[in-house]
Amino acid sequence: MSDNLAGKVVVITGASSGIGEAAARYLAAGSARVVLGARRVERLRAIVAEITAAGGEATMLATDVTHLTEMQALVNHAVERFGRVDVLINNAGLMAVGSILKGRTDEWERMIDINIKGVLNGIAAVLPVFHAQQSGHVINVGSVASHKVAPGGAVYSGTKFAVKAITEGLRQESGAIRCTLISPGAIDTELPSGTSDEATLKRLKEAYQAALPAETIARAMAYAIAQPAEVDVNKIIVRPTVQPF
Ligand SMILES: NC(=O)c1ccc[n+]([C@@H]2O[C@H](COP(=O)([O-])OP(=O)(O)OC[C@H]3O[C@@H](n4cnc5c(N)ncnc54)[C@H](OP(=O)(O)O)[C@@H]3O)[C@@H](O)[C@H]2O)c1
Repeated sequence: MSDNLAGKVVVITGASSGIGEAAARYLAAGSARVVLGARRVERLRAIVAEITAAGGEATMLATDVTHLTEMQALVNHAVERFGRVDVLINNAGLMAVGSILKGRTDEWERMIDINIKGVLNGIAAVLPVFHAQQSGHVINVGSVASHKVAPGGAVYSGTKFAVKAITEGLRQESGAIRCTLISPGAIDTELPSGTSDEATLKRLKEAYQAALPAETIARAMAYAIAQPAEVDVNKIIVRPTVQPF
């Protein structure tokens, strides 16, 4: 891994499981200083303890990304502890897929709040720090569903298309701030359990048989972060070789 990662302060949302947890562990192993946010604090505490015991630098704060004030508190915590923020990884997400015809408006609202507003709250919280530093890097976690719509995925894809649009719009206006959209295919995490629709869950389980380990996405994040400041990696799609969607 490049030295360009060592010492960087990386704030990660949704760091209590799956891709966020893998990113925290992998980047800390590459000597980044990681700041973990999520709602399940006991998990965050355990991950921070393990990273620290292995010689890494990590800290955490209970964070619900749907509340701007909590995202601001997470960013402030990073600045207080490490003096700056180099990268924000907007990773927290919910996939509650199922036919749009079922009209599960509560699940739609939760996905919109976490997947779209959560990303916007992260951007709003970190931009003042990035502007003061005149540098920074926003990595938004999209999905293959940022690029395609499949039956059952109308609303989830809608939120992830929005993440793609927001990332590109931010990139165009953000000058020295780097912007990356990382779009995973099937990755072996707790994500499918966000789906309550039985038929969709059955299809998902089949599709996830070839799912890749979460560290696969952490490596893609490390690649984007470790580039020289003048190199902005804008879009990465990583899916299992055999995944058709
Ligand atoms: N796994 C895949 O196949 C796949 C494919 C494409 C895209 N993705 C994307 O990858 C990202 C990470 O998902 P994952 O696969 O790692 O699933 P995961 O294991 O379910 O992780 C989701 C994370 O989001 C956090 N989260 C959920 N709601 C939150 C909230 N309101 N505030 C703060 N944190 C919240 C959860 O932590 P708490 O519950 O502790 O808050 C958890 O740490 C998501 O954006 C997902 O859409 C995953």
